[in-house]
Amino acid sequence: MQENLPYTKALLETTKQNAREILEKNTCTVVYNGKTYRRTVPSMEYYKHQWNWDSATVAMGLVHINPQAAYDELRALIAGQWDNGMIAHVTYNPDENSYYPQAEKWRTDQFHHNGIKTSGITNPPVLAIGVEHVYRNSSNKEAADTFLAELLPATMKFHDYLKTFRDPEDQGLLTIIHSWESGTDNSPRWDPLYAHMNLEDIPENVKEDVNKNRVDDQVGNASHRPKRENYYHFMGLIDLYANWNWDYKKIVKESPFAAKDILLSAIWARANESLADLLEEKGDAENANKYRSWSDQTKKALANTWDEEYQQYVDRDVSQSRNEPIKEATIAMFLPLWAGAVTDEQLPKLMDRLSNPEEFWTDYPVASTAINDPKFEISRYWRGPTWPVINMFIVEGLMRYKDKDPRAKKLAEELIDKTLGMIIEHDFYEYYDPTNGHGAKFGQNTETQSFGFADFSWSSAVFIYLYEKYRKDIHQHESSQVNIPQQPQAFEYKTLEEK
Ligand code: DGY
Repeated sequence: MQENLPYTKALLETTKQNAREILEKNTCTVVYNGKTYRRTVPSMEYYKHQWNWDSATVAMGLVHINPQAAYDELRALIAGQWDNGMIAHVTYNPDENSYYPQAEKWRTDQFHHNGIKTSGITNPPVLAIGVEHVYRNSSNKEAADTFLAELLPATMKFHDYLKTFRDPEDQGLLTIIHSWESGTDNSPRWDPLYAHMNLEDIPENVKEDVNKNRVDDQVGNASHRPKRENYYHFMGLIDLYANWNWDYKKIVKESPFAAKDILLSAIWARANESLADLLEEKGDAENANKYRSWSDQTKKALANTWDEEYQQYVDRDVSQSRNEPIKEATIAMFLPLWAGAVTDEQLPKLMDRLSNPEEFWTDYPVASTAINDPKFEISRYWRGPTWPVINMFIVEGLMRYKDKDPRAKKLAEELIDKTLGMIIEHDFYEYYDPTNGHGAKFGQNTETQSFGFADFSWSSAVFIYLYEKYRKDIHQHESSQVNIPQQPQAFEYKTLEEK
């Protein structure tokens, strides 16, 4: 643990308080079948529903300021689980129509549980990791046990879905069927996949719908958002899958988009560890062994994706019987750290790439696409900017190797302070300019051009998580004091309409 913080304790505590206020502002309640659920939306500016991996990560920050809110968050996340075990990437808030695509575009009604509207695809399975973190950081043991007993069965069922439908070959790596499943929507790593989809072949009504109804490029800044052709592809796939009645076996085999995703698979390996540890502790050795063996299998498979020529782990295009490596220089290559999948031989090579200022280690790392890559774009969604949530996952990954290699520890410590500092200096945006840390800039007409959306839940939760876990106990001699409530306070919950 480093001795000298680059920021005063007072500033850290004040920013934590601001993060808390954003998370409270971004919570809302919804009622299904007479049951009330509380959840955090990613941003009140645009994403006014519940996103799967956002939510699971947000709970990991929430537990440090309001454990009840963290329990509620994950309870709400599993509420819409499908009978086949899938937990969708978006669980829609009723009567909220400003986000595109709206719930009805997915044509998934027949799969909804309790009338809870969802998308038809999933997201990186951070859930089990979130459950473990929330459980272990709850001071009220009884409440934590009740929470765990409620969450474990749904989490296991989600993992069983992923194994059955997304790893039908039983090789350890999971297949995604849409780039939204990877969470990195328009990352260059998906360009080769979308190149299979001829724009002319996407039905006219789908393209017209995008032209007429897409709004993210108006609410947000069009030059920062995915391009129009990306949206034709995104919506073209949704239309295709709905026509195939969300038959995942068929989709995985026949879709023009099917990829073995190293980012999602790394989170899967890490999540299976969490699940196995929790089950073992609860005396369920049989299931613990099952999820542990899945984790081990995926770790080996991830290590085997290492490409010596490109010095990175690679995704694989497995659509329509293809089997092609995808060699794009993006942050996905660092996620195997979090899974503990990196071999002794790969570790120094991977850290060389991570710490290279010509690639990922900019002044405000970690750039989501290497800055010297021809596909790098400084402010366009997943094609360049820095995302605090990815930094958090990379920090956790590096920390796994801190005893093995002092450089891993040094990079992790630096990344913690750079991430906290970026948020302190520039507020809670969705993502940041990797060269100067700005989360927004002013356009010619002085309108703010926010990087993604402002007052973002992820960035708030990541700040709280990193501060509480790694920097809270560092003592500083300083005169300025801030008044922070010592006890977690309950949030005031409102429906979306009341906000
Ligand atoms: C969006 O709409 O930008 C989301 O990332 C899709 O999940």
